[in-house]
Amino acid sequence: MMKTEQKTAVVTGGTKGIGRAVAEALLERGNRVFICARNKRELSEAIESLSPKGKVDGEVCDVRSESQVRMMLDECVRVFGGIDILVNNAGVGVFGQSVEELEPEDFRRILETNLFGVFYTCHYALPRLKEKGGYIINISSLAGQNAHPGMAAYNASKFGLNGFSEALMQEVRQDDVKVSYICPGSVNTEFGGDSVSKEKAWQLQAEDIAQTVIDLLDFAPNALPSKIEIRPSKPPKR
Ligand SMILES: NC(=O)c1ccc[n+]([C@@H]2O[C@H](COP(=O)([O-])OP(=O)(O)OC[C@H]3O[C@@H](n4cnc5c(N)ncnc54)[C@H](OP(=O)(O)O)[C@@H]3O)[C@@H](O)[C@H]2O)c1
Repeated sequence: MMKTEQKTAVVTGGTKGIGRAVAEALLERGNRVFICARNKRELSEAIESLSPKGKVDGEVCDVRSESQVRMMLDECVRVFGGIDILVNNAGVGVFGQSVEELEPEDFRRILETNLFGVFYTCHYALPRLKEKGGYIINISSLAGQNAHPGMAAYNASKFGLNGFSEALMQEVRQDDVKVSYICPGSVNTEFGGDSVSKEKAWQLQAEDIAQTVIDLLDFAPNALPSKIEIRPSKPPKR
């Protein structure tokens, strides 16, 4: 069903971190890539710096907005003629706050981005993905299976995303649409207000997750690795 060359991929949150690395890896293999994010300046910069690698475009889109998601996907179809691959990567988290401390609007923001946003993109992209067969890859987290204090909202969003991904996988595989979800441990990005640093060289790098996406796409049509766990091989000893 899938070979990674000459496909059209949508990557949400494609301006930095994991999404940016995924976009780059897909472009390097000859695919067309459509990215989205909320920050207009960062979107323009990302498109400009990725464009020497191949055909890339994008649109400002907050995945929490159903109408913005619909328009963003329509624009991808207008520019590139279809959608074959959907990488749901955009995500946010707030860490270190108890349920009592966490602002209700932060809880809503996290669930609406990490879970509702994925529903909107899948809902509106599926008719396109079914046309020629396609692939949905959701970037979840080990926090989708391991709960920690101070992470209730993020845990809830990623536990939910895992269940959503598994149900969807069973729903659409007969239609030649594969669904996989990747659960990384710590990745060296700006996630959650952090920064990319040499001190975090022991962590997974964004390119490791991009490689995982490429590997999934390259599997034979008859094989569907539906859940991938990936973690740093040598974290600091506690
Ligand atoms: N870093 C880790 O340790 C780690 C571990 C496991 C899983 N993950 C998951 O990996 C994914 C990517 O994380 P990352 O580490 O690459 O984070 P990052 O560097 O903070 O990048 C997040 C990307 O998502 C976009 N984004 C955030 N909210 C959005 C929204 N409402 N609508 C559209 N785009 C939005 C951001 O752009 P704008 O801000 O401009 O919108 C940015 O492009 C997330 O789903 C995260 O949960 C990360």
